[in-house]
Amino acid sequence: MQVLKIMGNQKLTGTIRIGGSKNSSVALIPATLLASNQTTLCNIPSISDIDYLEKTLNYLNVKVNRASGSMVIDPSSMENLEIPEELSSKLRASYYFMAVLLAKYKYVKMHFPGGCQIGSRPIDQTLKAFRLLGANIKEEDSIYTIEAKELVGNTIPLDMPSVGATINAILVGVLAKGTTIIKNAATEPEIGDLITMLNKMGAKIKGINTNEIIIKGVTNLHGCNHDIIPDRIEAGTYTIIGALLGNPLKIDNIIPKHIQSLTTKLHDMQVNLDIHEDYLVVNNQNKLIATDIMTAPFPNFPTDLQQPFVTLLTQAQGKSSVKETIYENRFMNIPYLNKMGANIQINQKTATILGATKLVGSEVKATDLRAGASLLIAGLIAEGKTIITDINHILRGYEEIVEKLTNVGAKIEIEEI
Ligand code: EPU
Repeated sequence: MQVLKIMGNQKLTGTIRIGGSKNSSVALIPATLLASNQTTLCNIPSISDIDYLEKTLNYLNVKVNRASGSMVIDPSSMENLEIPEELSSKLRASYYFMAVLLAKYKYVKMHFPGGCQIGSRPIDQTLKAFRLLGANIKEEDSIYTIEAKELVGNTIPLDMPSVGATINAILVGVLAKGTTIIKNAATEPEIGDLITMLNKMGAKIKGINTNEIIIKGVTNLHGCNHDIIPDRIEAGTYTIIGALLGNPLKIDNIIPKHIQSLTTKLHDMQVNLDIHEDYLVVNNQNKLIATDIMTAPFPNFPTDLQQPFVTLLTQAQGKSSVKETIYENRFMNIPYLNKMGANIQINQKTATILGATKLVGSEVKATDLRAGASLLIAGLIAEGKTIITDINHILRGYEEIVEKLTNVGAKIEIEEI
């Protein structure tokens, strides 16, 4: 078993370069299959989620050439096969293949997708979008058989601005006949990245950064070259680390407006932060002020940074509160933070943090990706040694995290036990 061993309380100096966005890559890789020929994607992060997608592409007989940070994907010999559950259950994004195979072949059979256990995560909005575009869906033992005689554009009013349902509706709408309008669409930057790439491939989609997306269906798409946007959650995670330990820490290759909800809160907490066009510099500040956050869809505070931010709040003077409105199960890091010395109470969707409290190294478990990031940050600021188990969750979403942190002075390593 692999664990992360951290010797805490080391100041961090230097530059951390942010990689390509995980949640963009996991949508754009399946989207390339809509084309008739090859696409080159650059800035693909080196994380295990991408390894699973690559295995899925291989399974579908898609030609893939992966070099450092890039992926050339040629779907010309693709086959419409049922993706085995052991692959589809590894990540939520596997249901983007559902949309792509439906759009291309008008038939797909697949299991319910996997992903972090952070809530019930139903897929009803995706299924509603497929139905409105003309598909019939049969579900038996969590296996979905989806088929359509013809896919025809329609208006799709989403009940909530779901990232996954918006992406799936775009992926099917793009090759459907006529016009598709997605109302109450999600506006996360990863959706903008998908629309930009699909338009390069010959799609006709309007509505980047707006909650109404209008798609004029086309009959075929061609390959293109595309650079994935930087990962805003990785950027935010290292900025939080810099607020605690930066001496100073430069976070390079970012799009500042993508993390504005975080940097606004950091300014409120009096974090010493200089933001430039595509990088920021952050310094540790001895006295951080408590604050309150509530997670909500973009451009509000992202649920994916909530858990790392809770660790920061344990070091702020006074009472902070954190309300999680997206997922039911995103406080699983808190018992472990309390074990390390934090003072956090949970009442339904709200966590109340009393700070500042000294954290002491301990053995803790990464229950999911962002809980893992929260505990890793706790380990970096704690006195003594922290051991984190179940680190496969962390490696799903943070590329070369040990190397990036070691390069700026952290004492962190993966150990086989
Ligand atoms: N929801 C429904 N029905 C649906 C779809 C969503 O009730 O059909 C609910 C969900 O249960 C949740 C909320 O709506 O409460 C938002 O879900 P959404 O569909 O927006 O999330 P997602 O597409 O499953 C993506 C990211 C998550 C990120 C969320 C919110 C990917 C692969 N995953 O998930 O990323 O938390 O958007 O921004 O893009 C992570 O990276 O750690 C992660 C979990």
